[in-house]
Amino acid sequence: MKRVITYGTYDLLHYGHIELLRRARALGDYLIVALSTDEFNAGKGKKSYFSFEERRRMLEAIRHVDLVIPENTWEQKSEDIKLYHVDTFVIGDDWAGKFDELKEHCEVVYLERTPEISTTQIKAGLASKA
Ligand code: CTP
Repeated sequence: MKRVITYGTYDLLHYGHIELLRRARALGDYLIVALSTDEFNAGKGKKSYFSFEERRRMLEAIRHVDLVIPENTWEQKSEDIKLYHVDTFVIGDDWAGKFDELKEHCEVVYLERTPEISTTQIKAGLASKA
């Protein structure tokens, strides 16, 4: 079984997220999403609209997703890869080259982002319509 892992916040779930998850899952047989916790996001100065538990429940309802685990730190990736016997690390190409050091542990794939959609854009669009 080929296992794939990806990381992210997945706030205000949108079709760019679904496309990323669909293509990530298609690279293997089992997709793990490491979902940024509210505490981890706070450390980055980010605050999501939906809480970790709300975001987790939405991701778990998506058929491309097999398992959701918490992302608590930047450094946990190599441990997760060993613990979950991961073959492929996947993330959108806004991160291109940023995780190349993981190539010593598994395959690293940067997928092209879906154009013209992001959580930031949704928030800005809603604010401008208010
Ligand atoms: N993603 C994508 N295409 C988009 C938006 C996101 O492929 N249009 C991917 C990202 O590259 C990442 C994953 O979806 O691998 C989760 O991204 P996340 O940062 O949670 O979503 P964004 O919409 O990019 O959020 P923000 O605007 O807050 O950065």
